[in-house]
Amino acid sequence: MSAPTPTLTTASGIPVADDQNSLSAGPRGPLLLQDFHLIEKLQHFNRERIPERVVHAKGSGAYGTFTVTHDIRRHTRAKLFAAVGQTTETFVRFSTVGGERGSADTERDPRGFAIRFYTEEGNWDLVGNNTPMFFIKDPIKFPDFVHTQKRCPHSNLKSPEMMFDFWSRAPESLHQLTMLFSNRGTPDGYRHMDGFGSHTFSLINDAGERVFCKWHLRTEQGIRNLSAAEAGRLAGEDPDYAQRDLFDAIARKDFPRWEVRVQVATEAELAAWEARTGWNPFDLTKVWPHADFPRHPVGILELNRNPENYHAEVEQVAFSPANIVPGLGFSPDKMLQGRLFAYHDAQLYRVGANHQQLPVNAPRCPVRNHQRDGAMAFSNGGAAQTYGVVAAGGTGTSGFGHGDAGWTLSGVAGRHDARGTEDDYTQAGNLFRLLPPSERQDLFDNLAGPLSRVSPETLARQLAHFDKADPAYGDGVRLALKARQGGAQSVGAGVNG
Ligand code: HEM
Repeated sequence: MSAPTPTLTTASGIPVADDQNSLSAGPRGPLLLQDFHLIEKLQHFNRERIPERVVHAKGSGAYGTFTVTHDIRRHTRAKLFAAVGQTTETFVRFSTVGGERGSADTERDPRGFAIRFYTEEGNWDLVGNNTPMFFIKDPIKFPDFVHTQKRCPHSNLKSPEMMFDFWSRAPESLHQLTMLFSNRGTPDGYRHMDGFGSHTFSLINDAGERVFCKWHLRTEQGIRNLSAAEAGRLAGEDPDYAQRDLFDAIARKDFPRWEVRVQVATEAELAAWEARTGWNPFDLTKVWPHADFPRHPVGILELNRNPENYHAEVEQVAFSPANIVPGLGFSPDKMLQGRLFAYHDAQLYRVGANHQQLPVNAPRCPVRNHQRDGAMAFSNGGAAQTYGVVAAGGTGTSGFGHGDAGWTLSGVAGRHDARGTEDDYTQAGNLFRLLPPSERQDLFDNLAGPLSRVSPETLARQLAHFDKADPAYGDGVRLALKARQGGAQSVGAGVNG
């Protein structure tokens, strides 16, 4: 005998007798207002969408585990690193940046690589990308930068002129731009790319000593990129290519893995490095070269469980760089400081005042605070009091805001314009010079696509930056532009193609 079909109910649990025929006056209608089930069904349907993320709207997620393989306790007291072999549950969301929720996975764009570690002392979110650097170094430019990546308000089209107008006036973007237009700008799905925390963060040990650090994730699947032509073809034929690849791999138990590594430096070591190179170690448009700061292995991240419900888990997950746990810390990086504000603020609007109570966001450890009420407060602190004891100085010496060594501040409070005073070219040139000849040619061709559609002024400004990074860079792009004019047009992919 087959199991009885479970009874359909309203959202209030009331059994529904008929879900296929509305309550009508006679067989032809009209319909009766008292058909609450019909009304509730239509009303809820009308409210199914929440606002998409203002950036990183298209994404894929999965649960996994982080396993410690190497002891870094001399640097951090964070409990997730307490013992080799210790595991922590994680949730990871990959994304493209500029496109809408339905946009193609293979567009030329950085990829988001956001990791949540559900630790016993709260959630640590490492909200990174697949690139170790970023386009800008001051958060005040972020809304403008993102506007250039989105649609033109007049035509509703993506605009290479807007993008390169911004980039050519912000030479600090050249390093990331070079990576974006190399083949790394079109990774072959999410499993075949590396991840980076990108910013400089801190580690704090039991003695309260701080070192600065950068996080890296090296794919164990090997780096694989799509050619611009292949990415363009897939954008039409299989816009959900990366979602399918990740979901299917996990479903067939081919679990993707990344080695987590960390670069570490004391404040004094960074000061000496800055004196030697001229690079600000807290500037997000720069990397810490591996030759100067080796990457030390820390653990393995494995993704091994698909979410059950895309909306509840992948759409409603709310990562924030401000979520760090005792033993980890921030740095003076201006971009990081801007992001510490931006995410929670975005999520109060996108998901709601109590988004941290949703299952995918709730920590796996007890929450005790004095925040109450607001829309959808479903674990509202029970009978516990809603205020702290005023005389108490806090709940302990090792939690947030206590027991961390500070860092040295210097300089005058004011608006500091870095243009013309910082070297935006050497690291971009170094990245260019690292590329083998065939990949340099791909870079030239990938850039020539959108650059063939910008104004002569913008083109001249951008070419001057390539020349300063390496004369061969500028020359290569000029030749690729000429080849396009001669009719040998390469196929572009995605938003910038
Ligand atoms: C000042 C600069 C930045 C600002 C103001 C900013 C702001 C935002 C906002 C508002 C969101 C949407 C959050 C949400 O609705 O849940 C977001 C998403 C995201 N951002 Fe940023 N962002 C900045 C720079 C960066 C950088 C440098 C990285 C990587 C190193 C990054 C990686 C991400 C990722 C991965 C997501 C998607 C997280 C997810 O999967 O839910 N962002 N950003």
